[in-house]
Amino acid sequence: MKAVVVDAFGGPENVRIAEVEVPRPEAGQVRIRVRAAGLNPVDAGVRAGVFGGEGQRIGLGWDVAGEIDEVGAGVADWTAGQQVVGLHYGTVKPLGTHAEYVVLDATAIAAAPAGVDTATAAGLPLAGLTAARSVDLLGLAPGASVLVTGAAGVVGALAVQLAVRAGLAVTALAGADDEAYLRSLGATGFVRRGEGPAEPVDGVLDTAVLGGPALGFVRDGGVYVGVIPGAAPAAERGIRVVEQEVAADGEHLARLVSLVEAGDLALRVAEVIDLVDAAKAHDRLATPGVRGRIILTP
Ligand SMILES: NC(=O)c1ccc[n+]([C@@H]2O[C@H](COP(=O)([O-])OP(=O)(O)OC[C@H]3O[C@@H](n4cnc5c(N)ncnc54)[C@H](OP(=O)(O)O)[C@@H]3O)[C@@H](O)[C@H]2O)c1
Repeated sequence: MKAVVVDAFGGPENVRIAEVEVPRPEAGQVRIRVRAAGLNPVDAGVRAGVFGGEGQRIGLGWDVAGEIDEVGAGVADWTAGQQVVGLHYGTVKPLGTHAEYVVLDATAIAAAPAGVDTATAAGLPLAGLTAARSVDLLGLAPGASVLVTGAAGVVGALAVQLAVRAGLAVTALAGADDEAYLRSLGATGFVRRGEGPAEPVDGVLDTAVLGGPALGFVRDGGVYVGVIPGAAPAAERGIRVVEQEVAADGEHLARLVSLVEAGDLALRVAEVIDLVDAAKAHDRLATPGVRGRIILTP
């Protein structure tokens, strides 16, 4: 089968298609026939060598939507033919979701959202789980104010929607062209890129990884949530600084699937690109202004 790999770190030109063995599910795992797979910023990081693994052939891809085609021993909840979404956690792995088949732990998947096309569903797992956990980490009560940076990004837009659902007063920080979209998601405040809010906020969810300047928007004793482990600015003024790290949690993913099915959580697809053109997709990801997830289809 075909799989997207890197053998040497670098730019999009280092992304290549390899012929590899179709993986077999072990106990507690399922094999998924990949129908669509999201291309995330972390895939570009892996490709560039940010997470190490030099000298190994590394498979790319975390997000997947497709159907189960084989079930490993001891898996009672899933059967072949079921449509699922899942998260293949791991920076340095021999095979990722950017492939024709992938094996995942049964605990890392959820039934795919009904009524949503496969490409759209493939953008949910990594960004959705990240946004949801980040909003939880804020730990703010309804009515509190939160600023989401990078709000027009995939994680940011999902976080805006989930924070609005949690009753928070959401201000979105993004480019001027993104304002109407973010207000349509429920943001009641808007700050243009390069600027800051008029008043300090109770919390900042920093999906644009602005760091120190974003911390500066938080009131004394508020909260800052970062999305790149190890990259958050040092705490100051009694601000709680926390960092989000995603987990492949199928039960949590199922709750997000329910929101998508109910029309309460909107996902955006930027472009659908053939898996064999994965290098082109990485080029596109590197271009600022992408709005929505780039999806690869085998
Ligand atoms: N820790 C975890 O578990 C975890 C999981 C998933 C994602 N992440 C991280 O979360 C971040 C967001 O991911 P994503 O998938 O949402 O990426 P994305 O769709 O590319 O969104 C990033 C957004 O930030 C905007 N942005 C960049 N620089 C900005 C600035 N200076 N001011 C305002 N906005 C700015 C981008 O706008 P332009 O395109 O116009 O520049 C884009 O809209 C990435 O760093 C990713 O690695 C972490």
